[in-house]
Amino acid sequence: MMRGRITGVVLGIIAVIGLGASSFAAEKQVPIKQLMGENFAQLQTILAALIVSKYTGLPERIALIHDHANALTRSVPETITKDRDRFLIYAYSLQGHAADLKSIIEALIKIDAATAKNGEVEENQLREAAAAHYGGMVTTCVACHNRFRHMVPSM
Ligand code: HEC
Repeated sequence: MMRGRITGVVLGIIAVIGLGASSFAAEKQVPIKQLMGENFAQLQTILAALIVSKYTGLPERIALIHDHANALTRSVPETITKDRDRFLIYAYSLQGHAADLKSIIEALIKIDAATAKNGEVEENQLREAAAAHYGGMVTTCVACHNRFRHMVPSM
């Protein structure tokens, strides 16, 4: 009786692991190349928005880069045979900067809605904090590409 239950639990766990493995395999097929191209397209638009302090649609754009970074953490190219940890650090770092940038922009959107006069937003140092995280994102783009290009010729 007890043994049957334990077997059931063990089989259940194996089934869950199996499911996890198959969804992991599916995620590995995310076309990183395409996501990367989209990242590149977003960056300039995000910078322009930061400079003029017009944040409409910005959280969604940043979320896209965040999701792409997340995909990178789950699909380290197979040709990267050493320093995989470093690759992951860059991917997580991009994800972290994107998350922080997004939350700062969301805060600024609220502040600006409450304080802007005649469409003129107030000076606020959070705009510079946002720019620092933008810089952090660009740094991780260049760092990952610089360090891993020799193992992934398509990057
Ligand atoms: C953690 C590592 C990593 C980070 C961080 C990273 N990339 Fe990439 N990038 C890759 C890899 C790996 C490829 C190659 C993907 C492939 O060939 O499937 C790539 C490919 C590209 C390409 C080439 C796409 C093409 O169509 O040829 C561009 C452009 C690009 N990345 C831009 C960026 C930008 C912009 C950022 C920052 C927002 C960034 N990358 C951050 C790993 C990274």
